[in-house]
Amino acid sequence: MDKFVVRGGAPLHGPLPVGGSKNTALPLMAAALLADGTTTLTNVPNLRDVLTFSNVLRVSGPAVTFEPEAHRLTIDASGVNHPVAPYELVKKMRASFYMLGALIGRCGKAKVSLPGGCAWGPRPVDLHIEGMKAFGASIDLEEGYVIASTPNGRLDGGTFRMEPSSVGATINLLLGAVTARGGSRIENAAQEPDVVAFGEALQHMGAQIDGLGTRTIEVQGVDALEPVTFANTPDRIELGTFMIWAAIAGPPGTPVRIPGGNHKHLGEAFKTYFEATGAGVTYTDDLVTVTPPEHLTPVSIETGTYPGFPTDLQAQWTVLLACADGTGTVTDTVYDDRFKHIPELQRLGIDATVNGNTATVHGGGAIKGAKVMSTDLRASVSLVMAASVAEGRTDVLRVYHLDRGYEQLEEKLQAAGLSIERATYDEFETPETLADPA
Ligand code: UD1
Repeated sequence: MDKFVVRGGAPLHGPLPVGGSKNTALPLMAAALLADGTTTLTNVPNLRDVLTFSNVLRVSGPAVTFEPEAHRLTIDASGVNHPVAPYELVKKMRASFYMLGALIGRCGKAKVSLPGGCAWGPRPVDLHIEGMKAFGASIDLEEGYVIASTPNGRLDGGTFRMEPSSVGATINLLLGAVTARGGSRIENAAQEPDVVAFGEALQHMGAQIDGLGTRTIEVQGVDALEPVTFANTPDRIELGTFMIWAAIAGPPGTPVRIPGGNHKHLGEAFKTYFEATGAGVTYTDDLVTVTPPEHLTPVSIETGTYPGFPTDLQAQWTVLLACADGTGTVTDTVYDDRFKHIPELQRLGIDATVNGNTATVHGGGAIKGAKVMSTDLRASVSLVMAASVAEGRTDVLRVYHLDRGYEQLEEKLQAAGLSIERATYDEFETPETLADPA
């Protein structure tokens, strides 16, 4: 298995280039199934989730070609004829559940495995299923699979109000509704930039959608969609991650450049909290510059749906608080159990505790290298971040979590000045095999 070996303390000079968004690429790939022909997606990151989802798509019949160097993904969906997403693939990645909407939208029926457990909290799919029923699908659950069918091969359309607002359910319902026989309305819809970019791609394909970026989305179904070429958006979570990293590990007073992101997708809450830490920040269309302060102010945050503070950046914020002078809190209102990184950060000496859905961090103490274990994607990047400012060596184990969502992270960090290497290790090594033979 792979691990990162990080030697902390080297200043992060930058630049830290931002790649294409994982969370937008995946629904764009699902959308490609709706068109009878070849769709080309550009700026697609070379990530494990993209490769996994390519395999999920292939099961239903299309030819999927990924050129990782060019970041180009081509999907010839003329052969979609097997509307199934099997457990063996869906269990690897929750976003595979987008196949429910994509296959209903294209084939009028679907057999999609329930995603199963997740690294943090309960993550149900009830809204995806209830929404499809509200739009006219018949749904049965059999042997861990959702079996969906539609009257005469198309959804009717309808109205569905989701509570809470869900990114994934909004995407799934849009995938189904765009080719419905009638009109559909999604109330309390997700307005995350990922949903907007995905919806714009559907519009480009010929879908009739109003209200993207608002809480109410209305769709008028069309008979068929056209294949297109579409550019994926930059990854806003990678941008936010790099901004936090620059603030804690950059040389105080010296700007760190973060090119390639779209700061408008960060949302107002993150920007406001970030500036309140004392970090200097400037934004242009494709460049964010962060100037680390001498002392970071501990700013308490609470996550929320867009334009609230993204839950996908809260683990990283915990590390910022550990580097600040004083005490701050991180409260997650989107997921109340997303704190698996806290016991690992404690192993590095960080003074953090969890109570309910709030982590309290007493910053300013020494952070010292240790062996730590990745538990999920965003948690694992917070460990690498803490390791980069720790005294001595940290081994971050199980970086396969990180490879799901950060492209060439170690290369980017090395080029920006940090000491980080990828190495392999034996997951089942024992104290005996580790013992120094001398
Ligand atoms: C997406 C993102 C993930 C991010 C999350 C919240 C992708 C691939 N993943 O996940 O990185 O952390 O948005 O911004 O884009 N819920 C229900 N029932 C449902 C569906 C969701 O109760 O059927 C709840 C969830 O438990 C959670 C809330 O709704 O409390 C929001 O989750 P949701 O927006 O659906 O997250 P995902 O789409 O899974």
